[in-house]
Amino acid sequence: MSKILLVVGARPNFMKMAPLYFEMVKTPGLDPLIVHTGQHYDYVMSQAFFEDLELPQPHHFLGTGSGSHAEQTARIMVEFEKVVLAERPDLVVVFGDVNSTVACSLTAKKLLVPVAHVEAGLRSFDETMPEEINRRVTDAISDLLFTPSPDGDENLIRDGVPESKIHRVGNIMIDSLVSVLTKINQDHQDQIVGRFGLEKRRYVLVTLHRPSNVDDRNGLAPILAYLNKLAAEIPVLFPIHPRTRKNIETLGLGASLHAGLRTVEPVRYREFITLEKNAGFVLTDSGGIQEETTYLGLPCLTLRPNTERPITITEGTNELVDMSTIERQSAKILAGRWKQGRIPSLWDGRTAQRITKVVAEYTAGK
Ligand code: UD1
Ligand code: UDP
Repeated sequence: MSKILLVVGARPNFMKMAPLYFEMVKTPGLDPLIVHTGQHYDYVMSQAFFEDLELPQPHHFLGTGSGSHAEQTARIMVEFEKVVLAERPDLVVVFGDVNSTVACSLTAKKLLVPVAHVEAGLRSFDETMPEEINRRVTDAISDLLFTPSPDGDENLIRDGVPESKIHRVGNIMIDSLVSVLTKINQDHQDQIVGRFGLEKRRYVLVTLHRPSNVDDRNGLAPILAYLNKLAAEIPVLFPIHPRTRKNIETLGLGASLHAGLRTVEPVRYREFITLEKNAGFVLTDSGGIQEETTYLGLPCLTLRPNTERPITITEGTNELVDMSTIERQSAKILAGRWKQGRIPSLWDGRTAQRITKVVAEYTAGK
C-alpha cells in the first residue's frame, strides 16, 4: 500500500484536493490521507468546504493559522515535519500556490519524500506576488508536475524541468465544479439567488483579496468607489474575504460603502458556484474564479495587471482590467457585447483520474 499525504491549507486548495482524494480512495494500492495546515480556519473559509465537498475530517490538522509570510511558512514546516516523520509517506501531494504549498513541499523534499505538485507550471512573471515565489520554488523541487494547460508545460521546460516529470492532466478545479453542478438543481439555485435578494443574470458578483488591491488605501479606496458606482446601475454582491474585510475596517473605509453594494461574509462553495453560474458577470482578482467563469462561459473581469492563467483570456471569457478600463469593459458586458470563449482542452471533470493513474504507476515503480 502506498501512503499519500494530500496537503491543503487555504480556501482554493480544498476543491482541488477533493476529487483526487475520492479517486485515490477507490484505487487499489493507494492510501490517501488528508493533512490540513490550518492556514485558513474560519468556518466559511475551511470547514464549510469539507462539508460541501463531502470530505471526511482531515486525518491531521496542524492549526498553524495566520502570521507574516516567514512566521506562517515556518510554523507550517515545523508542524508538517512531525507528520511526515510519523507517517513516512511514499508521496506528498501539494496543490496550487499558497504558503502551505511551498512550506510542505520543502519539508517533504528535505526528508527525501517525493513531491507531486498539482497545478504546476503557472506563471504570472510578477515576483511582487507571493504566489509566484511559491510556484517557482515548488515546481523547482517537485518530482511529478501536473499541469492544467500547455502554457504550464512551456513554462516548466523553459525553467529546465525535465519533460519526463511533466504530465499535462487538465484542470482539477473543474472536476469539483462539474461535480457540484450536478448537485444544485434549479429550485435550489432559485432559492439561493433569491435569498441574497437577487434576480438571475441581473447582478454582478465581486471577490477581491490580492494584497496589491486590498492592502492599502491607494488600491482599495478607488475600487470601492467604483463598486459604489456600479451598484447604482445593477445590484452588486460582494462576499468579502477576511483579509479585505480587515483592511476595510483598519483603513476606515466601511462607511463609504453604498447601500446597493451588498457586502456579505465569504460564501460556502455550493452557494458560491450557484451565485457564479447565475451572475451577469464576475469581477475578481481570484485565480480560480478566472477558471470557473471560463468553464461556465460567464464574462469575467480580472482586476490585475497580469494573470498566471492566460488561457482564460486566449480561450476563455476573461479579460484583465485596471481602474482606467474597468468601466468601459463592464459597460461592454452589460450591453451584451462580450466574447463567447470555449472550454480549454482537458478541463473535463476527469483530471483526478489522470493524476491518479500517474501516481499509481509512479508509486508502484518505486
Ligand atoms: C491566501 C493565499 C492566496 C490565496 C488566498 C485564497 C498565500 C501567500 N496567500 O491569501 O494565494 O489566493 O489565500 O483565499 O498563501 N484570515 C482570517 N480567517 C481565515 C484566514 C485568514 O481572518 O480563515 C485573515 C487573517 O487576518 C490573515 C489574513 O486573512 O492574516 C490573510 O490570510 P493568509 O492566509 O495569510 O492570506 P490570504 O490573503 O488569505
Ligand atoms: N469561493 C467560494 N466562496 C467565496 C469566494 C470563492 O466558495 O466567497 C471559491 C471559488 O468558487 C473558487 C475558490 O473559492 O472555487 C477560489 O478561491 P480564492 O479566490 O480564495 O483563491 P485563489 O483562487 O485566488 O487562490
